[in-house]
Amino acid sequence: MTMTREDTCVFINDLRLEASGSQYLNAEAPDAAVRPTPVAIAGATGYAGMELQKILGRHPHVRVAGAYSSESFSVAKVVESGAEVVFLATPNEVSAEVAPKLLDAGIKVIDLSGAFRLGEPGLYPSWYGFAHERPELLGEAVYGLPEWCNGELKKARLVANPGCYPTSVLLALRPLTYLIDRTQPVIVDAKSGVSGAGKKADVAYSFTELFGNFKAYGIGTHRHEPEIRQGLHLGERTTLVFVPHLLPTDRGIYSTMHVGFTNPVTAEELTALYADAYADAPFVRVLPAGKMPELKDVVNTPYAEIGFTLLHGGKRAVVVSVIDNLLKGAASQAVQNFNRMCGYPETEGLL
Ligand SMILES: NC(=O)c1ccc[n+]([C@@H]2O[C@H](COP(=O)([O-])OP(=O)(O)OC[C@H]3O[C@@H](n4cnc5c(N)ncnc54)[C@H](OP(=O)(O)O)[C@@H]3O)[C@@H](O)[C@H]2O)c1
Repeated sequence: MTMTREDTCVFINDLRLEASGSQYLNAEAPDAAVRPTPVAIAGATGYAGMELQKILGRHPHVRVAGAYSSESFSVAKVVESGAEVVFLATPNEVSAEVAPKLLDAGIKVIDLSGAFRLGEPGLYPSWYGFAHERPELLGEAVYGLPEWCNGELKKARLVANPGCYPTSVLLALRPLTYLIDRTQPVIVDAKSGVSGAGKKADVAYSFTELFGNFKAYGIGTHRHEPEIRQGLHLGERTTLVFVPHLLPTDRGIYSTMHVGFTNPVTAEELTALYADAYADAPFVRVLPAGKMPELKDVVNTPYAEIGFTLLHGGKRAVVVSVIDNLLKGAASQAVQNFNRMCGYPETEGLL
């Protein structure tokens, strides 16, 4: 986050040298019999892209064949690099334009933007401000919330990495989907550190505006709202109240969710549901009933932590979910998806 543009370029060059030689950053050399997978990173100079560089640079089964800024990126250069998988840590419109070309060139795509997350093409003009030129790819894209994917990542050509707020919300509420009373509003009160907005220079994101401050934004207009609605299968009739806030901190997402149940539930029932849902999930930790997670437990880690408290005799719950927006909300989740696509252990490069 504190890197200057020059620092970043030096880092990229170092990384390329390391990755193309026999030395691997902070990691054991891969099994000599296993050829590392060549990958490229577009948007490598952005916040999410820089995290990708760190993770992929130490991944024992990866060779970073190319890492690009806005100026150095082109589809032709990615093709020339020999990359078999490209991570797009680029703005939505850029991903929407270049992903189809990369796929046509036979390169698999893991897109960190929102360009392929929504299954319904008609939602893009109103929520994202552009129409998809290849809408059929929305049907093909695998929504890469790995804890809720089965075998589909293994066959995927195009993975839509979930948004940061939706990751925190869906991990917390999906296990409860069939208990939630859809006649009551699902309320998501979520807070994000400032890096969630990317590295754009804007007065609203300046130190003097944010320090000692706290504010809501994008109520009813945030692009993650249709993604949360889609991921929870809420349909059009259930009210979703999604209120994002800007935390005066650099990174981390803290989502507080309020749900009502069709029938009263017990803490033991919810504990069992979460345990069942995340028995094989190395990056999701569910806390004992009544214990709430804190940002400091997940910032700079690839983990999500979830806690819940029952209210009104088990008719309602407050669920809290925390992640690092740049890791579980972006880069480390993308690498979880990559590992599953390539058949590597899910935790490879991440622990
Ligand atoms: N920040 C988060 O917490 C977060 C979480 C989940 C998903 N995402 C998504 O991940 C993507 C990257 O987010 P970010 O926060 O890392 O953004 P960022 O810090 O603003 O970085 C954007 C990156 O994209 C590059 N870029 C811009 N225009 C380009 C173009 N026309 N062609 C090629 N590259 C271009 C930039 O290059 P330059 O350095 O040369 O400008 C930079 O490397 C976005 O789609 C975002 O929505 C972000």
